[in-house]
This record gives sequence, structure tokens and C-alpha cells, in this order.
Amino acid sequence: MINPISGFSRLSKEEKIEWLSKTYLANNKKAREILTQYWNSNSSLQQLHEEFTENTLTNYYLPFGLAPNFLINNQLYAIPMAIEESSVIAAASKAAKFWGSRGGFKAEVLGTQKIGQVHFMYSGDREKLQYFFKKVKPQLLEAVTPLTRNMEKRGGGVVNIELRDKTDLLVNYHQLHCTFETKDSMGANFINSCLERFAETFQAEAKSHEAFDASEKEIEIVMSILSNYVPDCIVRAEVSCPVTELADHGMSGEDFAAKFVRALKIAEAEPHRAVTHNKGIMNGIDAVVLATGNDFRAVEAGIHAYASKDGRYTSLSHVDVRDGRFRFWMEIPMALGTVGGLTGLHPLSKIALEILQKPSAEDLMKIVAVTGLAQNFAAVKSLITTGIQQGHMKMHLMNILNQLQATVHEKEVLVNHFKTNKVSHSAVEEQFNKLRN
Ligand code: MEV
Repeated sequence: MINPISGFSRLSKEEKIEWLSKTYLANNKKAREILTQYWNSNSSLQQLHEEFTENTLTNYYLPFGLAPNFLINNQLYAIPMAIEESSVIAAASKAAKFWGSRGGFKAEVLGTQKIGQVHFMYSGDREKLQYFFKKVKPQLLEAVTPLTRNMEKRGGGVVNIELRDKTDLLVNYHQLHCTFETKDSMGANFINSCLERFAETFQAEAKSHEAFDASEKEIEIVMSILSNYVPDCIVRAEVSCPVTELADHGMSGEDFAAKFVRALKIAEAEPHRAVTHNKGIMNGIDAVVLATGNDFRAVEAGIHAYASKDGRYTSLSHVDVRDGRFRFWMEIPMALGTVGGLTGLHPLSKIALEILQKPSAEDLMKIVAVTGLAQNFAAVKSLITTGIQQGHMKMHLMNILNQLQATVHEKEVLVNHFKTNKVSHSAVEEQFNKLRN
């Protein structure tokens, strides 16, 4: 029987590992060694990582790779990606090469507004609330001036505050629905700080509002928080080429385009397929978002919500074939930053942004969207031609060989063998055993 521990956060990381090892890992020496072998010998770097979060035991590595040759709006990028899935970077690089010789990717930011909300309960007369809001709005804006000064210097700030009646959703529920411009920062702290100040001011001013009766003066603030659903912070990525340039694996360009369209129509129509189709897009998006120190959970949540904006979950990407031209595109929301947060703290995020030539947040939105579109194109292309497993298993081969603890020489021989043979777990195991024996 395990007893709860108190004061865990105050233990040193050695003590934490000691406790963990005794309590959950049967005092396993190997487990302790594994946890400690990821400590960085550079103590200040180690400390930096430990201070990103609480109760850190060790560091968790992900591969940090590069997909070169991305031509985006006529500029050539090498895109850093942090991802563990074997075939993703290879697929992105292939798609980059393919579209690089067909005019490259075009990307455009269609909007940059972010949203935050103060959720509150008010049970009184709604017209009086409207009147109060009109009166108090300038005071709300005034109350955040110490917070907005710097943001305004950079061209951002509070764009608007609206009072929204949400009583059709929930009895007595209303919102201050606020829009913000946060320029190159993702803006979460800025937005949340402004919202909390709005909430305090709104609640305090209500108490002395002459038109409210005693119960109306008691507005209950439930919470103040940004929304990760940002349908007005949108980027569009697109590729296009003559259909004739799509011939692949013995398929004519016309046949390829027609099959690609069918695959997209299925993803548009059928949610099970749409989720997997969009997961392929997120393979590219998350990897760049993570490499650049941005919040991939926020981006994931917002994009999937957008995929169901019309009431049914559907494909994020779309295709059109007209007058002999193939056009493949997607519009997605995302709130990213290139200053603040982890972007300036994590040494690898800093390098990632340097590799991307110090992009603005808008530039990064374009790069990320393009990577998602490239990934999606590569996945659908494989699915409708060779099938996904050929590429996947080729890339997965090294994982299988590592599981089998193959030596460098064995790896060389087996990688060579599987250049011309179908990779499956059992086939690799069989060849490996043959070679060993
Ligand atoms: C695998 O990580 C992603 C795919 O399943 C995407 C897709 O099916 O389009 C290959």
C-alpha cells in the first residue's frame, strides 16, 4: 500500500528520484540510471530546463531535425521540426522537393486577432446591464493602460470589448468578449492580465452603479481567460500546378489528381477519416510549433475546433481541379509567438527561430501552415499510390533494429537488404536472426 507524500516539490531532484524509485520502481537501479543519464552535465543548462516546470526529474529528449528546401513565397527555408514519428521529416522533405520544382508554396495571413473572455453571471435587468456596459467600457480600457503601454508601442493592444448575452446557453450567463492584437508575442499572459483587470473593474464599478438595484450590483465573475479558439487569427497555405505535372507511380497526372480529389472528398465527408487526415496535417504543424517553443496544445485545440466550425468535423485541407490545374490549400487558425515565453528561453527554440531567419509571428504562421499542408500532401500521395506502410516501415526499420539491439555492422547489412525487400516486423526479425546465426 502506497502512502501519499507531502512536500514532494521541496525535495531535490535526487531525493525525488530516490522516493520514486523506492515507491514505484522496486528500487530498480537501472531505472534510476536511466533517469539520471539524461541530466545535462552543463549545470546552468540543466537548471534552466528544471525551472521550466515543477517536479522535474530529468530531461525528455525528442529528435530535433530539419526539413530543407521549402520554397515559401519565393523564399527558401529549412524548417526545424521536433518530432519522434519516424517518417514525418522525410515526408515533409519529399513534399518540399516536389513542390519546390512546381512554384513552391504560397502562404498568406488573413487575420491576427486573438480572443479572451470574462465569463460572468448577472440575474438582473438586461437593458440595465447594456447601459452599465456602455458607461463602464472607457473605464475598462483605462484600467489596462499600464498593461497595454508596451504592447501599443509595438502596434498591438486591446482591439475591442463587447458585452455578449449568453443566457440562451445558460441561465444568467454573460460575457465580456474581448479582442486583442498581440503582434509577435503569442500574448497569453498579456491577454489574461488584461482580462483579470477588466473583470475586477467591471465588478467593482457595478457595485456603485446608480441604476442597479442591490442584487444587480452583485455581478459574479466566474472566470477570465483567453480562448484558444482563434477563428480570426487565420493563415492560408496553398500549392498549385498543372495536372500533367502530377504523374506518379505509373499513374497519369489526371488519374492522380482524380484519386487525390476522391481522397479529399472522403476526408471532407467522413469524420473518422477526417480526424486521421487532419492528424497528418498536425504531424507537420506540431513539430514546428514545438521546435520553435510555441504551445502546441493551444494550436491543436484551436485547429480541431475550427475543423468542426460548421457543426461537423471535417477535413482542414481542400482540393480543386479546374482548367487543367490542381490546387490544394488549407486555411487554419493559430496563435503563435516569436518573442516571449519559451521562444527566447529554450536554447533550441532560439536556434530554431534563427534557422527560420528570425520570423515575425505572421511569418511563422505561414511556415507552420505550409509544413502542415506539405505533410498532408505527402501522406495522401502515399495513401493513394504505394500505401502508407512502405514509407513508414522503411523509416521504422531503424526502430526495429534498435529494439533488437543490432550492432552497427548488422544495421548496415539489414538496411541494405531492406532497400529492395518489404519491411515488416517479422521480416526484419527473421533476417536479423539469420544474420546473427
Ligand atoms: C500518420 O502519422 C499520419 C497519416 O495517418 C495521415 C493520413 O492518414 O492522412 C498517414
